[in-house]
Amino acid sequence: MSDAPPDPLPTPSSEEVVHKRRPRYPGRNPRAFEHKYKELRSVQYPDAAAHIESRGKTLAGSHRPILVQEILGVLNPRPGERGVDCTLGHGGHALELLGRLRTDGAPGRLLGLDVDPLELPRAEARIRAAGHDADAFVAVPSNFAGLPAVLARMEWDGADVILADLGVSSMQIDNPERGFTYKSDGPLDLRLNPLRGVSAAEWLAGVRVNRLEAALREGADEPRATSLAAALATAREVTPFRRTCQLADWLRGWGDKADPKDEIERRVRRVFQALRIAVNDEYSALDTWLRGLPACLRPGGRVAVLTFHSGEDRRVKHAFRRGLEDGTYSEAPDEVLRPSPEEQRANPRSSSAKLRWARRAGETGK
Ligand SMILES: C[S@@+](CC[C@H](N)C(=O)[O-])C[C@H]1O[C@@H](n2cnc3c(N)ncnc32)[C@H](O)[C@@H]1O
Repeated sequence: MSDAPPDPLPTPSSEEVVHKRRPRYPGRNPRAFEHKYKELRSVQYPDAAAHIESRGKTLAGSHRPILVQEILGVLNPRPGERGVDCTLGHGGHALELLGRLRTDGAPGRLLGLDVDPLELPRAEARIRAAGHDADAFVAVPSNFAGLPAVLARMEWDGADVILADLGVSSMQIDNPERGFTYKSDGPLDLRLNPLRGVSAAEWLAGVRVNRLEAALREGADEPRATSLAAALATAREVTPFRRTCQLADWLRGWGDKADPKDEIERRVRRVFQALRIAVNDEYSALDTWLRGLPACLRPGGRVAVLTFHSGEDRRVKHAFRRGLEDGTYSEAPDEVLRPSPEEQRANPRSSSAKLRWARRAGETGK
């Protein structure tokens, strides 16, 4: 993608660029977001973005769409059809879908939903800048659990193609102020919509220990959910968990000192995933969406879902399998599509992705 997101940092004047020395960091690596990502300071570091992209890395503030050709292959969006991208994110998949729906000036339309009120307007601006007006694309600030209501408001009888690329975007992960990362310190927030609900810090401070245990088990298959939940509940009485690095460091110090380092890091990752799923009520949104999906698809309509861990994938697999058995779907292969080794190398965040798809029974109207 060639367009850059709005620069969140003040851009230095050319005088400052000439005279200001690079700040010295207390440790080996810069800790602050603005020091870490040179591509966010295009005046100071004009070649940074090109250099990062040439190394196959994702630019901070952007997101690389995963399994694009595979998704276009299974969804097969045709000119003039109606589509929904339930998880707009950076808009990468949306632009690809729009390219197909609007081929040769066809009147295809795409709705782009996202719960994130900070990123949604940026994605919309990017899609407008790519030449898609309100006839082609409508951005909808909504949880995808509310898709049937969104379609009713738009007076759509259903969509021909629907995509959901679950989880979080690179923009959300990379910004420490959102609280998804523990590579840089930030508030323990983890909300996809920071204007609603409670932060992970508040959730962790008030949750009952058996609920915490269930969240660790269901959200991340944490093998030591019982003892970890009890230890977290004791520790929070002494010092409440408020910052991402504080929680990560505590987790690294917990448990068996002989645990291998990579298992300790996997545990930290699992706990952050479980917290994210809990504070955003992700499973209940996904279950509601899967239940309402058949009614949102036109006969012959196609749906594709990208999942990133077993809790998500299980839900999608079972919903599609049930739909196939009861005749709601005419196709829903059991096999998943995975990113090629090349894609995984070029974009390590794609490594755990699995693509499932289904086709609603009945003849396509077009
Ligand atoms: C992996 S990113 C999508 C990236 C996108 N496909 C692209 O090409 O840029 C997932 C996005 O889904 C959004 N999201 C997660 N759960 C959601 C939900 N229940 N309803 C609506 N949006 C959701 C997140 O805020 C995030 O922006």
